[in-house]
Amino acid sequence: MNLNVENLTKKYKNGKLALDDISFSVNDGEVFGLLGPNGAGKSTTMKIMTTILKPTKGKILVGEDELQSNSRRIKNKFGYIAQDNSLDEQLTGRENLLLQARLYHLKDYNDRMYEILELIELGEDIDTPVSRYSGGMKKRLEIGCALMSSPELLFLDEPTLGLDVEVRRDIWEYLRRLNESYNVTLVVTTHYLEEADSICNRIAIINEGKIVAIGNPDELKKKIGKEKIEITFESLKDVEKVDSVVDNISFVLDRKIIDNTMVLIVDDADNRMFEIYDMLRENGIRITGMNNKKISLDDVYLHYTGYRYEKN
Ligand SMILES: Nc1ncnc2c1ncn2[C@@H]1O[C@H](COP(=O)(O)OP(=O)(O)OP(=O)(O)O)[C@@H](O)[C@H]1O
Ligand SMILES: [Mg+2]
Repeated sequence: MNLNVENLTKKYKNGKLALDDISFSVNDGEVFGLLGPNGAGKSTTMKIMTTILKPTKGKILVGEDELQSNSRRIKNKFGYIAQDNSLDEQLTGRENLLLQARLYHLKDYNDRMYEILELIELGEDIDTPVSRYSGGMKKRLEIGCALMSSPELLFLDEPTLGLDVEVRRDIWEYLRRLNESYNVTLVVTTHYLEEADSICNRIAIINEGKIVAIGNPDELKKKIGKEKIEITFESLKDVEKVDSVVDNISFVLDRKIIDNTMVLIVDDADNRMFEIYDMLRENGIRITGMNNKKISLDDVYLHYTGYRYEKN
């Protein structure tokens, strides 16, 4: 199911401008990622797309229909997994699933239930109270609950926040399976750029309520260069000195300084490293480390905002 977000602006009652005229579209069958640091506006966007919040300006089209005026009909086509746990902790996993079936007035849901139990792999734990579940188990059950109504489009706000690395990998794997085997379109927000990079067909990076970059992760990375060289210096004084040296290096496509590290974007890091090293030495600049890496989405973020991406 296609989704079109047009010129969305959200100003909260306290005057906070959380979204400042953002537009993007999500194609049918796609995994679309909304990325950004704390307070960027990800949850606000999610809440507007799922009709929990009203936008100050702008509109959303789901297929051909405008969301705001057809929300009741459209709501049945999508599922939403909020950032905060929405399960009833007193009930068992199975009871939570049954509750969903009742909320959506589902009939003949036994096959669906069986399919979901297979997918979320909770085994016998499905019959223990949710209060005894781990964070990862709860998230899997929440995904299961959202799937009961067979949505074509699923919104997930930070599905892996606060989970261990391995559990996070599992959750992404469930989502991938869901997208590939059940053709569910996914709109996911996350802090974890590298995880989004591996699963999303397209991403939008939000910063302070504005979209700073949008597109396929590989294309976004390619746009800013092929590789990067990170040089760390003994002191900040050297960083300032190195700036004037780098001014004279023509093959440096972009550069950023964070603390006592300089990041240089280049096309051929392997060969250029030695040239740069020699030039720095000739100018009496002492470095404590130098390495080359592939461009990541962190670099894309850095390129467009000038800030190092903060992880939580
Ligand atoms: N109900 C509210 N009233 C006023 N300001 C709000 C409200 N909800 C969020 N904000 C502010 O709007 C901005 C965007 O918040 P939002 O929750 O959308 O960010 P986020 O990208 O989801 O952040 P996080 O990564 O922490 O979940 C923040 O500055 C936040 O403090
Ligand atoms: Mg949020």
